[in-house]
Amino acid sequence: MNRIKTKYLGLELNSPVILSSSGLTSTLQRIKDAEMAGAGAVVLKSIFEEQIMNEVAHVDSYSDYPEAADYVRTYVQENSLGLYLKLIEDAKQQCSIPIIASINCRGIGEWVDYARVIEAAGADALELNIFLLPTDKETSSDEIERNYLNIIERVKEAISIPLSVKLGAGFTNPLAIVREIYYRNVKGVVLFNRFYPTDIDIEKMAVKAGDIFSHPSELSNALRWTALVNGSLPLIDVAVSTGVHSGADAVKALLAGASAVEIASAAYENGLQVIGEMNTFICDWMKRHEFQTLRDVTGRMNAKNIADPMLYERTQFMKYYSNHE
Ligand SMILES: Cc1cc2nc3c(=O)[nH]c(=O)nc-3n(C[C@H](O)[C@H](O)[C@H](O)COP(=O)(O)O)c2cc1C
Repeated sequence: MNRIKTKYLGLELNSPVILSSSGLTSTLQRIKDAEMAGAGAVVLKSIFEEQIMNEVAHVDSYSDYPEAADYVRTYVQENSLGLYLKLIEDAKQQCSIPIIASINCRGIGEWVDYARVIEAAGADALELNIFLLPTDKETSSDEIERNYLNIIERVKEAISIPLSVKLGAGFTNPLAIVREIYYRNVKGVVLFNRFYPTDIDIEKMAVKAGDIFSHPSELSNALRWTALVNGSLPLIDVAVSTGVHSGADAVKALLAGASAVEIASAAYENGLQVIGEMNTFICDWMKRHEFQTLRDVTGRMNAKNIADPMLYERTQFMKYYSNHE
């Protein structure tokens, strides 16, 4: 299936279908299974800033890279950072697909230096999942975005492997934040992270978890923003996350401007064979429409390449309601 090879973050992928950061990418066996199933790459289950910092507290001091890598490895072998580094090393030794590490963070801290150690362990790229729920009414959006950019700048200084940033869907102006991220030489953005959902049990009157897995209808928002981002900032890669459940969904994401899709819910619900099914669908669709390479597909329907970009900009239902009573 040469036809579905793609480039994402400068990495060569045999398929644009990436297994997203989740429990499905948390062990060596699961990563091997993903490779066997046809995944183009995996994003490892995130290591959390808090996990890194807990362990740093147990290490008196550490010197600069590369010695820091050995030091940390020796002292924290049995804990999560040590295990995370080992997972990266083992995956790099035993798999040939790109291994994208993931850090879940909220602010700047010493943890940033550990991005170096993750690079030294052999990760092909790093995905930063930045999010702090803004519960303080006095914090402005500007301050929050500044925090994002500060983190990105510090991590960029620390590593030389490609960096991508996984964003939530809640920005006032997603294009503006992606533009700022792009100006900091970040290779890609993941649109969008899906947060742990909240629901209310009305009989017990208790807060509970909502649906852990996404629904295909959730793809729509990422499609719109991918089309707009790729239309105006074509040099930053986009991976679509949230709502990709089928090969057809993946094709939509690619047409909108994604270089890759990151899937979790579909693989949890249907097993890893869904990856192979998506690959086959994308390949057959490309043959049917006479596309030789994914380069010709990505962005073909972004907001710049379609005749009426307003189709992506339409937000209100006025006309719909006047036609449907
Ligand atoms: C059980 C589970 C665990 C997840 N863990 C992480 C994580 O550690 N880091 C992260 O960035 N995203 C995590 N995610 C989010 C997924 O990577 C993905 O962005 C989200 O589920 C939307 O994609 P989907 O519609 O294909 O499920 C997790 C999702 C699920 C369902």
